[in-house]
Amino acid sequence: MCGIIGYIGFRSAREVLLRGLKRLEYRGYDSAGVAIVNEGIKIEKRRGYIEKLKVNFDGTLGIGHTRWATHGVPEDRNAHPLTDCHGKIAIVHNGIIENHMELKNELAEKGHKFLSDTDSEVIAHLLEELYEGDLKKAFFRMIKKLKGSFAIAAIHADERRIMAAKMESPLVVGIGDHENFIASDIPAFLEYTNRVMVLKDGEICELTDDFVRIYDFEGNKRDKKVKKVEWSIENAEKSGYEHFMLKEIFEQPRAVDETLHSLFSRNDMNFDFSKVIIVACGTSYHAGLVGKYIMEELLHIPVEVYYASEYRYRPNVRDNALALFITQSGETADTLGAAKKAREEGLLTMAITNVLGSSITNYVEYVLYTHAGPEIGVAATKTFTAQLASLYYFAIQQAKIRGMIGMRRYRELINGLRKIPYKIENTLVRERRIIKEAEKISKKRDIFFIARSINYPIALEGALKMKEISYIHAEGYPAGELKHGPLALISSGVPVIALAPLDRTYEKMLSNIKEVAARGAYVIGISSQDEVEKYVNSWIKVPDVEPIFSPFVNVVVLQLLAYHTARILGREIDKPRNLAKSVTVE
Ligand code: AGP
Repeated sequence: MCGIIGYIGFRSAREVLLRGLKRLEYRGYDSAGVAIVNEGIKIEKRRGYIEKLKVNFDGTLGIGHTRWATHGVPEDRNAHPLTDCHGKIAIVHNGIIENHMELKNELAEKGHKFLSDTDSEVIAHLLEELYEGDLKKAFFRMIKKLKGSFAIAAIHADERRIMAAKMESPLVVGIGDHENFIASDIPAFLEYTNRVMVLKDGEICELTDDFVRIYDFEGNKRDKKVKKVEWSIENAEKSGYEHFMLKEIFEQPRAVDETLHSLFSRNDMNFDFSKVIIVACGTSYHAGLVGKYIMEELLHIPVEVYYASEYRYRPNVRDNALALFITQSGETADTLGAAKKAREEGLLTMAITNVLGSSITNYVEYVLYTHAGPEIGVAATKTFTAQLASLYYFAIQQAKIRGMIGMRRYRELINGLRKIPYKIENTLVRERRIIKEAEKISKKRDIFFIARSINYPIALEGALKMKEISYIHAEGYPAGELKHGPLALISSGVPVIALAPLDRTYEKMLSNIKEVAARGAYVIGISSQDEVEKYVNSWIKVPDVEPIFSPFVNVVVLQLLAYHTARILGREIDKPRNLAKSVTVE
């Protein structure tokens, strides 16, 4: 899991690469490096953040890398770019070369000297072995020998071109005038060009100053459309917020609104299935759990929700099911693996993703795009509410198509959904109130989140956000389960965040609140109901919404609570320790 970039043109390659790497930093940040052609190849790479690089050379052709270690600990020698024995060829790689041991042994027998513990270094030595004065030819021969996942860019000291290839790791091309770019993600070069080509698995790309050519691995030329990116680089920057995460929390009204608008025009949702299997990881999994409640409520069909890492290895099952994969990045290895398996099982497959042309779109038959814009903070926020918007819309449409709801209820639900961006705005104004609570809980060691029914996944999500960025131990529970064990952990002053929307579980939630209060918990109640104030230590009022939509407002409070707790504790909010934005390894 890493970010790669390549540049060829007339600008300072040092500047283009370093600025691009900064925008790719969300993909990994344990080491970084650049290689620039300038009377040979000059390399600067080291462990740590991009700012640590001391690049005192320049040129107009180069490649760069920001790393999240998989093979080989984060050390200078394992940082990319990696070179062949003579420093004539440099490569950057994102992914895993599964047959690297086999290749390394073969190459070592031929005399190649390896300097790193990475799987990626074999690529440089393979190119060296196959090079006969033409990088392009060597690259085509090399690529056939690799097994695994990769986005690779390679350069040669004596040639003015970049060769790149994609297999199960993202790669996009930026088209300029007398300059071209290649990168793991569009923001890396968006300040220079908004004309992009999204590479597919099994494609090779040749970039020179004046042209970009795409081939398949056999060397056949492929035609590819150039797309215009509508969002600007400002969208991908902090716009004055202290952290990307906060900016992204505040972008949720727009993210939901734009997602809904794109869906309102879709009329291709007439699918035949009698069961839904939702598969995802992390926050996307929590969106899937909310999806289960919505679909069971509106469609009255069974819905199973799996962690992708579990689904991948379950026995094959025959089913008339729709397998729905939720992944904001579209690159999560576990989710891609699960999608592959579902196709093998013959299931109808669909994905909800935020990234245009991401890998998941090649694995499924139908795609619903969320339109949240790029999410840079490692903690997912706006992509989560955008995923929820898609799930609600999908379920409401299915309910109408299947005659499970009449026109009146359909309109009621769609109108309720249309109002969500406005309801989120009215929740965001509670920020100052939430900061006060964050100040209190930032001093605690454990925090519990409880809820019932459709808000139970929101309790899980609140706990995940809290753990992920504040590093405080946090657990989410269905409130009714407390008495079966977790209640033993509640003692004087332990914070319990209780979600209490006015749904059919409301009275039960009040009982659960009283239960924890009686054991001395510090209870923060999140509810639209004034009455809740009587039973809790602190009440955060949220806007009134029809109970089925309450996850939207509740999750926003929990995101802000986690954010401000982490901020007070001085955490690296956008880049929490040990984590990366898209997890492209199993
Ligand atoms: C969310 O805050 C996490 N960083 C993580 O759980 C994430 O949701 C998970 O890795 C899935 O990512 P995806 O949606 O890109 O597949």
